Amino acid sequence: MAAPSMSRTSSSLNHVGPLSRRDDEQIRSLYDRHARFIDALLGRATENSPYRRKAIARLGLTPNSSVLDVACGVGSNFKIIESYLRNSGTLVGIDISSESLEVAKRLVAKHKWTNVHLLNTSITNYRPKEQFDAILCTFALEIIAEYEAAIDNIFELLTPEGRFAMLGMRTSSAVPCRGLNAFVGWVLGKACIDLGRNLAQHIESRARILSYEECFLGFYFVLSASRQNNHLADPPETARPRFSEIP
Ligand SMILES: C[S@@+](CC[C@H](N)C(=O)[O-])C[C@H]1O[C@@H](n2cnc3c(N)ncnc32)[C@H](O)[C@@H]1O
Repeated sequence: MAAPSMSRTSSSLNHVGPLSRRDDEQIRSLYDRHARFIDALLGRATENSPYRRKAIARLGLTPNSSVLDVACGVGSNFKIIESYLRNSGTLVGIDISSESLEVAKRLVAKHKWTNVHLLNTSITNYRPKEQFDAILCTFALEIIAEYEAAIDNIFELLTPEGRFAMLGMRTSSAVPCRGLNAFVGWVLGKACIDLGRNLAQHIESRARILSYEECFLGFYFVLSASRQNNHLADPPETARPRFSEIP
């Protein structure tokens, strides 16, 4: 397990206040309008990203795994997930943006994946009959309007032995980058991305965090977790992150 780097101090430079909450409708319309642009610029450019690989590696996938990609967008995680599943198991991708799912659908057809199911719904309303072995969420918990309810539902949807992994964005605590936090927060705010959320703290209150690692100059983090009642992979006490300390 990666050793979490947890030493933080509060700093006004590091602080980005929470955005006023957009609702699902505003977010859906934004991502519907820009699905093709996101696909061309961000999707294809990042589908082999080492950060996506790192998060997906934390899921411990086998060819039989059932995987939920929460807020899958244009399907930028699918290639890496399928490198584990090999068109076996199940991959369910859900998103509130139907236009993003149209792009994802074309990707699935292009690769002839027959184990992928796409669903146009919000994670907060998603109540399937089966639970998942693995749940992934990349670059979305900073955007989802009701993110606390989304996190609660994610852990309801995970099997007791299952793994959750996320790739998220945050304000950087790295000394040369801290001065950029306010600017980066303002720019990303235009895409409804809220860097003011302490996602790790909310996840910690709901689940057992297994690993936490910052990357990309401290602006990204990869976190993995299991359900609260899973004691199999207990990290040693000294390695446990304390997310309540993160400003
Ligand atoms: C920045 S994109 C990330 C897409 C993809 N996960 C990736 O890593 O490229 C954020 C996505 O979250 C989706 N989203 C926002 N709120 C959602 C919700 N409540 N339920 C499901 N998807 C949601 C948006 O439609 C958008 O596709």
